[in-house]
Amino acid sequence: MNDDIYRPGLEGVIAGETAISAISDGLRYRGYSIEDLAANTSFEEVAYLILRGDLPNAEQFHQFRQRLSAVQVDDQILNIIAQLPNGTPLMDVLRTGTSLLSHWETDVTDNGRDANLNKSERLLSQLPILLSARYRYEQGLSAIPPDSKKSLAENLLLMLHGETPDPSHVRAMDISLILYAEHEYNASTFTSRVVCSTLSDMHSSITAAIGALKGPLHGGANERVMEVLEDVGSPGRAESWVRDALARKVRIMGFGHRVYKTGDPRAQLLKNWCVKLATKEHHRDMEKMADIIEQAVTGEKGLPPNLDWPSARLYHYMGLPVPLYTPLFVLSRVVGWAAHVIEQLENNRLIRPRSRYTGPDHRDVISLSER
Ligand code: CMC
Repeated sequence: MNDDIYRPGLEGVIAGETAISAISDGLRYRGYSIEDLAANTSFEEVAYLILRGDLPNAEQFHQFRQRLSAVQVDDQILNIIAQLPNGTPLMDVLRTGTSLLSHWETDVTDNGRDANLNKSERLLSQLPILLSARYRYEQGLSAIPPDSKKSLAENLLLMLHGETPDPSHVRAMDISLILYAEHEYNASTFTSRVVCSTLSDMHSSITAAIGALKGPLHGGANERVMEVLEDVGSPGRAESWVRDALARKVRIMGFGHRVYKTGDPRAQLLKNWCVKLATKEHHRDMEKMADIIEQAVTGEKGLPPNLDWPSARLYHYMGLPVPLYTPLFVLSRVVGWAAHVIEQLENNRLIRPRSRYTGPDHRDVISLSER
């Protein structure tokens, strides 16, 4: 075994191939830059692109939307979701929910491309229904069904808030879903590929990926970002807060990235939407505070913001509570995970790396009575 190729955290290691997205000269999904997609498409078009390889034409898009809106969640599943203990984190609800959904799938073990595309589309529609239902049950409210004429972003806000959302919120949500949808071999996507490489199934792969996304070094960061903003409190405290945190070697959530060392292109795109919504919803002070924190962290430590930095306050400006932030990431990234599962299975090789042994040298067992 060649020990030289060992890198902690697999940093910089090419662990497989993909035709789904590329991080080089920005971020591209299937060849299209995220800037172009965010300016000219909807999340559903991007979901179709990521899952099937090309942007849909009008007829394909119409049929895709029809398939998505025909999907339902069985009442038995919603009843179980309602019975989870109060205070269960919503990421855990989605993880359990995905696992539960598999029991009602007729082709759960069919790993053919068509079956997996069908399952991916169903999950894309089912997860927002599960999340919003649970969110409302906890407040003693009943679930609101999706409206087949509305987009996923609009339905999501409608099902959560119970009222028709502002069009600028709908577009901002749509953009955030586009930007969260796919990001090559990040930890949760790699997890989904490892699971399906054993010839396990789509739902098991997605369930495991949700578990990986939950951690604060990955998707969980967007919830922690809001804690940072609340802790700092005002623009006047921002600079000294950052200096103090860095001096204490605190990791400031929403900054730094394993791959982007000079800046995450998604963060700049979403920041533009933060500025728009902050002005509209009277959160200019928070935007100013975020700017000062950003300049201080970048200036002192050379760490640019990642996507979770703007997404937290964008959701805050839409009136969404913090426990929803990482689950919203799931509703989008499920597209990327599913596409990677399908891609992995099309050219599968069991993912089974080696480890470098660091334990004791050879030892002989001494019998229990003599130990
Ligand atoms: N705040 C303060 N210091 C940091 C941060 C941060 N957010 N990120 C990295 N550093 C420091 C780190 O302490 C180390 O400093 P030193 O060399 O003085 O010991 C140096 O930068 C290199 O850090 P690293 O841990 O080797 O870098 P990494 O490539 O392993 O880390 C990261 C990537 C995302 C885990 C890390 O930047 C981090 O913990 N960021 C905060 C969590 C976060 O925002 N996660 C979201 C990631 S992007 C979206 C997503 O995937 O969900």
